[in-house]
Amino acid sequence: MSKKRVLSGIQPTHDSFHLGNYLGALKQWVELQTDNDAYYCVVDLHALTVETDPKLLHQRTLLSAAQLIAIGIDPNKSTLFVQSHVPAHNQLAWVFECITGFGEASRMTQFKDKSQKGGAERTNVGLFTYPILQAADILLYQPDFVPVGEDQRQHVELTRDIAERFNKRFGKVFNIPQAQIIKSLAKINDLQDPTAKMSKSASSMAGVIEILDTPEATLKKFKSSVTDDGKEIKFDEKLKPGISNLLTIHSALSGKSIQSIESEFAGKGYGDFKSAVAEVVIANLEPIAKRTQELMSDRAELVKILEVGAQRANQVASETLKSAYSAIGLI
Ligand code: AMP
Ligand code: TRP
Repeated sequence: MSKKRVLSGIQPTHDSFHLGNYLGALKQWVELQTDNDAYYCVVDLHALTVETDPKLLHQRTLLSAAQLIAIGIDPNKSTLFVQSHVPAHNQLAWVFECITGFGEASRMTQFKDKSQKGGAERTNVGLFTYPILQAADILLYQPDFVPVGEDQRQHVELTRDIAERFNKRFGKVFNIPQAQIIKSLAKINDLQDPTAKMSKSASSMAGVIEILDTPEATLKKFKSSVTDDGKEIKFDEKLKPGISNLLTIHSALSGKSIQSIESEFAGKGYGDFKSAVAEVVIANLEPIAKRTQELMSDRAELVKILEVGAQRANQVASETLKSAYSAIGLI
């Protein structure tokens, strides 16, 4: 049986991925590489839609790739590459821009949200064409599935529409991919505001657990996580959102059921429980942070790994681009 092809991407907009990214998406990327032909892309061109210092973008792109390898993306199994190393992404994006309606692109909720937040003055054209570049990222590799979070469903729908339209007008070039909405292993909330999703856009990082945090910082964040009323360790999202979030985190990383963790901590206080959750998290994240630092300390080797990925990606992408160019009449 031939393997299915999957493709996904992540933006290098921060130094460190957080626990929500890890449990919500990246751990599943690692699992998917076993039975599928996987392409994973650090989308540095998309990150340009947010104004970033060039040195920082450079560093974050390498850090993102290093973290992906550290969590288990194996560059020998998966094709791991950086978007800007494959020029076909921009080349195909232009073609797609010319067959996408202005209204259609205007309806993308992510664009509406981001442009409303930033205001017209701070909204760049790249933010508007962002989903069309994403369609090119995807369709160049003819994937069967695109594993993404729920927030990306609309972009994958647009990608399918563009592919269908192109095929209908110019002959079949593109495979129509399906979104594979990743079920988070757990919805992870902010430790300071356990009714809100853990996110890098939080006003303070005190409730956000980052993969690259030091063990001391992680411990401190758990120790000072908000406490609910009462003193029982019990899962109750309404009455005990803080403790419930900690139980979810423990369970997702230790593999133990919520119930068995509750019994383990019957009669114990919040303090003991918080330290225990921190311990489980540190045991999981510390090796990842260490491996990331190792990879970052030999940048030449890391860049070499990404060059190999780019070569493989370029081979597939340039074939598809050639077919698309030829279908639309470019000589
Ligand atoms: P973002 O960097 O926020 O775009 O997140 C990348 C992916 O990580 C998303 O598509 C989600 O699948 C996942 N994710 C982000 N935050 C969380 C969270 N708090 N809980 C679970 N999954 C999350
Ligand atoms: N827009 C995606 C996000 O914010 C990132 C992304 C860019 C992507 N290109 C992609 C995801 C291609 C999947 C496939 O999460």
